Order: sequence, then C-alpha cells, then structure tokens
Amino acid sequence: MNKNILKITSKKNKSKIICLTSYSKNIASIIDKHCDIILVGDSLGSVLYNFSSTKKVSLEMMIEHSKSVRMGVKKSLMVVDMPHNTYRNSKEALKNAKKIISKTKCDAVKLEGGKKIYQIIKNLIRNNIQVMGHLGVLPQSATNFKFKGKKLTERKKILEDSKLLEQAGVFSIVLECVESSLAKEITKTISIPTIGIGASVNCDGQVLVTDDLIGLNNINVRFVKKYSNIKKEINDATLKFKRDVNKKRFPAKKHSY
Ligand code: KIV
Repeated sequence: MNKNILKITSKKNKSKIICLTSYSKNIASIIDKHCDIILVGDSLGSVLYNFSSTKKVSLEMMIEHSKSVRMGVKKSLMVVDMPHNTYRNSKEALKNAKKIISKTKCDAVKLEGGKKIYQIIKNLIRNNIQVMGHLGVLPQSATNFKFKGKKLTERKKILEDSKLLEQAGVFSIVLECVESSLAKEITKTISIPTIGIGASVNCDGQVLVTDDLIGLNNINVRFVKKYSNIKKEINDATLKFKRDVNKKRFPAKKHSY
C-alpha cells in the first residue's frame, strides 16, 4: 500500500484522524500542519457558489480548486471529491479519476455510495487509484438531509455497504450524518478508518467543512461547531480600512512611493 495512505490507515485504534476541507491554497496552507487529510469537497458548490445542491459542481471546478489547494498542501493526504455524474460507469470513472489525479496531483479521490458503485470503485483501485468511500447521507443523490440509521433496514444496508467498500479496497470511509451506535458498529466491524461528519465521536476521525468551523459560512446544523468568528474579523478589518481611507490615515508615507 502507498506509504501516505498507510500513514492514515495505521492510525486506526491508535489516534484520531483529522480531516478538513479546503477549496484554495491560502486556507490549505494554514490547516495543513494540523490535518492528516485535506479534502477538496464538492461542498464548494453550496459554500462558494450558492448552488442549491452539489449536483451542479463540474469536474473542471473541482480540478481548478484542487490545483490551488495543491499549492498549499505539504504534508497532509490530499483527497478530491469526484463530482456528480462523473462516475456513472467504470470507464467514465477511470477516465475522470485519471484526469483529476494528473491535473491536480492529489493522492486520492472520494466517491459517494455503496453497493451500486462497488464495481466502479474496484476498477479504480485495480488501476492504482486510491479511493475514499462515503456512506450515510449522500449529498449528490440525497432528497433530504435527515440522519441515517433510524430504521433497521437502513442500518443493515449501511453496514453491508461499509463491508463492501472495505472489500473493494477503499482506504477509509466518510460517514455523513449516521446515528451514533451505527457509526460505532461500523467502526468496530471494518478494519479501515471511518471519518465522521455528524456521525458521533465513535468514528476513527472527524471531518468538517473549514468555512463552517471558522464561521465564514452561514450554516446552522447540529453537527457543526464554530471555533472562530472569522466573519467578525473580516468585518472589523474592513471597517478599520474604510475609516483610515476616509480620514486619510491610509495610505501613510510608508505605504507610498
Ligand atoms: O463535500 C464535502 O465537503 C464532503 C465532506 C463534508 C465530507 O464530502
């Protein structure tokens, strides 16, 4: 197995895996030293472009943002989301995954789904492409964002899917909005790490959208914890700049030629 991937998988049952999203070089370069994985998530569609869902995110958008992120990532494993309608069959998935990897130099790609995309994932891995899985709420196909694992049939399906993904060869699985005891059961059952978002402390690692964590994105969902209020910082700095310009305190002599 690839040594960067091994670094992640060997953390299972030892220490937590830290994963955050980034859509640009500047954010990536700040968070890199504290992360194990940096994900260029297709959440950029809603966070940056105000799309109503991630379905509208294109391959080109993911590639351009990932190229920027790559410049800021020095030590973390860099994973890029394959967007909606770019992996409908094995041939399409392989062509697009190869394109993402060659243009962005990322380490792995992430795909949403279980049994339905088992063969597609297997084919990617057979072709030496590292894959991260994604189960639970699947934003690319979801009709609602209710947490998963209340119904027994749903629990069985997600557990089975996690075993299938492990069999296919993914190196870890994101569990999005999965009920706590189910996340625990999956994490205990499979030998690869689970990375939770809204899936409790029972996962091997945690992922959040950085814009949510720093308070830049307007979001109010249960699983997000705001660790700073960057909006206020930006507001205050802008206001100070405006005042300085109006009072002719900026630019001063030292800022002028
Ligand atoms: O698109 C994304 O940012 C994601 C994470 C929330 C896991 O898939």
